[in-house]
Amino acid sequence: MAETLKFRHDGSFRILMVSDIQEGPSIDPRAPECYRKLVEHTRPDFIIWGGDNIDGRKAKTADELRAHLSVFAAPAEEAGIPWAFVFGNHDYDMDISPAEQASIYAEHPGCLSRDLPEGIHGTSNFAIPVYGPDGRPAYAVYGFDTAHKHPEIRPGRSSNELLLPGLPDHVRKWDTVRFDQLAWYVDISRRLEREAGAPVRALAVMHVPPYELQYLKDAPELCSTKGETSQRIQAGVLNTGIFATMYERGDVECIAAGHLHESTIEGEYGGIRLCLDGCAGFSPKSLPHCRGGRVFDITLEGGFSTGFIPYLSLPGIDPA
Ligand SMILES: [Fe+2]
Repeated sequence: MAETLKFRHDGSFRILMVSDIQEGPSIDPRAPECYRKLVEHTRPDFIIWGGDNIDGRKAKTADELRAHLSVFAAPAEEAGIPWAFVFGNHDYDMDISPAEQASIYAEHPGCLSRDLPEGIHGTSNFAIPVYGPDGRPAYAVYGFDTAHKHPEIRPGRSSNELLLPGLPDHVRKWDTVRFDQLAWYVDISRRLEREAGAPVRALAVMHVPPYELQYLKDAPELCSTKGETSQRIQAGVLNTGIFATMYERGDVECIAAGHLHESTIEGEYGGIRLCLDGCAGFSPKSLPHCRGGRVFDITLEGGFSTGFIPYLSLPGIDPA
């Protein structure tokens, strides 16, 4: 199992993102079956779990998490594909701490989410470079932990006070990426730029989407919006400047999120691709064409494309 990510000899690199597996402790057998077919069909170089990786309202214990991971880590590990994860709000519903969960994930040698940064909000933040043939970082994948809900953003005050009647309804109760996480990203982004001698292009993933996803719905023609768009965007309670920070740094070319099970919306705003990832599990409520995963194709020369792959489109999957 590769411990560092590298572009293929032909200069390509493919990432598969799956969000909201959200099974457990009983697993709908369609979920691992379809996920395995998605991995086999897309043959990615790297897999990211986008949060709500387990339904922590029902699966509570370390043993239940181990059982869950043994099922869903298998397709990647049998194919020798490294993978990483961020947590979603339902991962925080487990009875064991996020730190203990992360240590259980790290029992899997293929899981590259290890030595996670301390001292910033969230547990599952990661920054993983993808190296070019010259041994220098040519791309980066940043994972941001958007934690749970009803956060106490300002000590001693409930963030519910921010949910004024009349606020746009895409702003909800969720926590989001905080300032210290963005400062951490900027530090790493600058370090990678020094190592590479140029800004290092990047994909940023998180569970709860950034505020600007709503613009894809508000201005669909200007943002070239496509995909399933009917569900309300559920951004965090505050716009903490995720998009603004990445726009100013200029290296993140795509921000991808999970959280919404019935949306595969994607579009472009300010030169940055914004997209959602649908739902990889079968226990959560979703739409048939929104169950699947999202592929990102990157080339060393600067190419980037992404598309949602519904399970329904895969050979050997019964549309029923
Ligand atoms: Fe979810």
